Amino acid sequence: MRKFSGVGEIVDDIPPDEPLHIFREHTLEKAANFFNTRFKGRVCYAVKTNPQPHILQKVYETGITSFDVASIAEVELVKNLLPNADLYFMHTVKSRAAIKKAYYEYGVRSFSLDTVEELEKILGETNFAKDLNLFVRLAIPNTYSELTLADKFGINSKEAPALLKKARQFAKKLGICFHVGSQCMHPDAYRIAIRTARSVVTKSGVLIDCLDVGGGFPSVYPGMIPPQMESYFIAIDEEFKKFKDYRSIELMCEPGRAIVAESGSVLVKVDLRKDSLLYINDGTYGSLFDAGTPHFIFPVRLIRPNGNPYAENLLPFSFFGPTCDTLDFMKGPFYLPEDVQEGDYIEIGQLGAYGRSLATAFNGFKPADEIVVTEDEPLMTMYEEDISIQNQIDILAA
Ligand SMILES: Cc1ncc(COP(=O)(O)O)c(C=O)c1O
Repeated sequence: MRKFSGVGEIVDDIPPDEPLHIFREHTLEKAANFFNTRFKGRVCYAVKTNPQPHILQKVYETGITSFDVASIAEVELVKNLLPNADLYFMHTVKSRAAIKKAYYEYGVRSFSLDTVEELEKILGETNFAKDLNLFVRLAIPNTYSELTLADKFGINSKEAPALLKKARQFAKKLGICFHVGSQCMHPDAYRIAIRTARSVVTKSGVLIDCLDVGGGFPSVYPGMIPPQMESYFIAIDEEFKKFKDYRSIELMCEPGRAIVAESGSVLVKVDLRKDSLLYINDGTYGSLFDAGTPHFIFPVRLIRPNGNPYAENLLPFSFFGPTCDTLDFMKGPFYLPEDVQEGDYIEIGQLGAYGRSLATAFNGFKPADEIVVTEDEPLMTMYEEDISIQNQIDILAA
């Protein structure tokens, strides 16, 4: 991967005509180290967030050697790249073929489930293996999260004790897991979820070996400023310690967004301006899905070749992506200099999570194959203790 000191240098040296993804290795390292040093349990990276090989490799090098995978393709990807990685197959609905292949060909032993039917599938396809680690996924209200996963996965707390009891009979290790929803904006979500897990375990009358608090840890976006990451870990730790036998339970989490969001940006080009609408060369069918219907507002900055100046005054803009579909619209507002024009470059930040991994080639538009590395700082960060988040917002808006 070619390395540049900053985004300005990219625009000067190799002005790209396609959306270009930028990777800041040091930023990923910082986020991963934060989890590795402060989260009091196993950290398991959620591969779906960004499955690119250089990301998986870097995550592994930071010391995160466990990976949450959701499909057999993700199992194969991680195992081929990192043969010693520990895999957790945490999709609660898997095909029989995927279970069998994961167990017999790739040595996967940890599986999640939220129904008796899925338990029976796992047992059937592994020939009632004696070395299974089974995680029962609870349905948890996703009230504090920007993107809910609540309706699709999890067993309700009334029916969960019976499933837990049944799974206990077959599990070498028994776990309970949940997901509070992605971009969770309050640590109390984890307190409530762990309390529910405790109550389910008590009602079931069995002991568990693992508590997996899932993903959901937030990143920072304009207008979406979460509490300090540390406060999430404190909430989890306090609530976890209320399990009487917590010393014999392994704590674990499955972060995605919080590990990689800040480390990725996309550099886009303005193809046309119509008043406060900018037609750019990436969109909701590309790396900016979350800027569409989920309506995330990403941090942006204008870059002109050779450091050419631009207006100081900022105005709110919306974006249209390059495809022929009107759904390819990103309302924003994205604040940019008032004289932004065709040919300008815009860096859009916080796209290391669910950015390139969701990009399609619809209508023939796709990001450049090359990914470049820069050594400068990301547009926003959760992990710089001496710079308050509000300060960063002020800097961006200035
Ligand atoms: C089972 C599971 N774990 C972890 C994650 C990662 O979530 P996040 O990116 O919000 O941390 C997801 C995301 O959908 C998930 O489905």
